[in-house]
Amino acid sequence: MSNQDQHPKGAPARHDIAPADSATGISKGLTNYGDRGFSLFLRKAFIKGAGYTDAALERPVIGIVNTGSAYNPCHGNAPQLVEAVKRGIMLAGGLPMDFPTISIHESFSAPTSMYLRNLMSMDTEEMIRAQPMDAVVLIGGCDKTVPAQLMGAASAGIPAIQLITGSMLTGSHRGERVGACTDCRRYWAKFRAEEVDAEEIDDVNNQLVASVGTCSVMGTASTMACIAEALGMTVPGGASPPAVTADRIRVAEQTGTEAVRIAHERLTIDRILTPTAFENAMRVLLAIGGSTNGIVHLAAIAGRLGYDIDLAELDRMGRDTPVLLDLKPSGDHYMEDFHHAGGMATLLRELKPLLNLDAMTVTGRTLGEEIERAGPGFQQDVVRSRDNPIYPQGGIAVLRGNLAPGGAIIKQSAAHPKLMEHEGRAVVFENAEDLANRIDSDDLDVTADDILVLKNIGPKGAPGMPEAGYIPIPRKLARAGVKDIVRISDGRMSGTAFGTIVLHVTPESAIGGPLAHVRNGDRISLSVSRRELTLQVTDEELARRAQEKPVVVPTADRGYRKLFLTTVNQADQGVDFDFLRAAETVGRIPGKRGTPE
Ligand code: FES
Repeated sequence: MSNQDQHPKGAPARHDIAPADSATGISKGLTNYGDRGFSLFLRKAFIKGAGYTDAALERPVIGIVNTGSAYNPCHGNAPQLVEAVKRGIMLAGGLPMDFPTISIHESFSAPTSMYLRNLMSMDTEEMIRAQPMDAVVLIGGCDKTVPAQLMGAASAGIPAIQLITGSMLTGSHRGERVGACTDCRRYWAKFRAEEVDAEEIDDVNNQLVASVGTCSVMGTASTMACIAEALGMTVPGGASPPAVTADRIRVAEQTGTEAVRIAHERLTIDRILTPTAFENAMRVLLAIGGSTNGIVHLAAIAGRLGYDIDLAELDRMGRDTPVLLDLKPSGDHYMEDFHHAGGMATLLRELKPLLNLDAMTVTGRTLGEEIERAGPGFQQDVVRSRDNPIYPQGGIAVLRGNLAPGGAIIKQSAAHPKLMEHEGRAVVFENAEDLANRIDSDDLDVTADDILVLKNIGPKGAPGMPEAGYIPIPRKLARAGVKDIVRISDGRMSGTAFGTIVLHVTPESAIGGPLAHVRNGDRISLSVSRRELTLQVTDEELARRAQEKPVVVPTADRGYRKLFLTTVNQADQGVDFDFLRAAETVGRIPGKRGTPE
């Protein structure tokens, strides 16, 4: 007999239990006590301890992932955002329930934030799954948080909407506008070159981060914000408002309202994160001069839905996708300028002929419809037109060759034009510690024409593929005025960094990729125009070296480190854990050449 039958006609039936697969709201995902009626009874009893009424508990439940943390100033506005999201949810007739997950900040994560991204994605996925909610608002911002949330939500599969925390404001140092973190690196390089003294470096330290919020340039956080909007996962205009503005709070309220709508419509995340949406995201990544980390994260998110990102196709897309966004490190402006220039609507309008306009967004309208709704553009100097780009091709090029059989990438828009066709002698560092010990030595045998090679900073090598690919200019060269030198590693670099830097060499050296066998004095040639990265050593010699000094793949005895080292995959697969990918691979993205309008 069902609970419904136990109630006389017309009497309130407050303990009705819907079948598990059709339950909604507070009745979803009941704790298993072997009696579903008792499970719901108990759940209601406990939540009523917090003062909720039955009327409140009958509403659709919207989870809000609250990633506020004292260790994460990039999410320092989380309390205000949560309040505004709740307001939006209540206005639309939903019941907001915020809950915490792991929060990751770049500078407060040892050994590196990337080591923890998959853990955050698991936390997000399982808490969405475990707790009753009809839709979820994901509040993220700092580099790894948005990808972690999209990965987790993609695997959990319910309706989801992303809310970005927003960028920090820029500061001013002795009359010069500064912002994290391109200017952090620039000033630190000046300090290393003894162009600024200790007093000035202390002064600028106070100005680089002028408010809470994410890095103010086109680093990974801004890149992922733009990608989230391009994927259709945010409300229109959700990428660009700075953290401390009224616009950001309004976006939060609107996000809450939309969350209730997608809950009613059961607009699940797999209907937004489609191959066409990923292709749009790849276009946007290229056109914004986005962080190289964006590729890794897109590969990981797509992998959760069973798709592989086709790097060769990404490179081909790059050849006809110019960089339009004039933001540091590829250009001159900051995120708040992008917002004043109209944000993503301005960019998407310009990119329109290259986009899949029929891709669905969380508003229930297509990307093309949202571009139309944004209205006409206006005079501004942050987003260039396609006939006057910042850089004629996409910001990122994919390289192949015997040094990187699985591919490597270079952010060509932030590289030195002269060094993009270069041959040089390898100066090899075996790992990050070796680099730290020798890079500033006056005895280091290095010239500006050499190529710095850093091994063992890949997914398993460091572990966690730290952003150590931005190898500093050796101090003796920096003092002599050298600003750039070709650098190669299996690691990543911050999206805020710049230089002629080859990254994500796959397979990594720690699992025996060719990079492991490069030696001091080997010749390496880089040709970005031909997309080639070549170690001028024969296959026979590489095999001989591999036999002479076999690679010992890193392991751990226990805990998360053991899980990480046992299951993490390579950069081309997004550095996700193999068991978190979709069980079945269903296709490649893009499936065919882009479909211009
Ligand atoms: Fe959080 Fe840069 S450190 S976005």
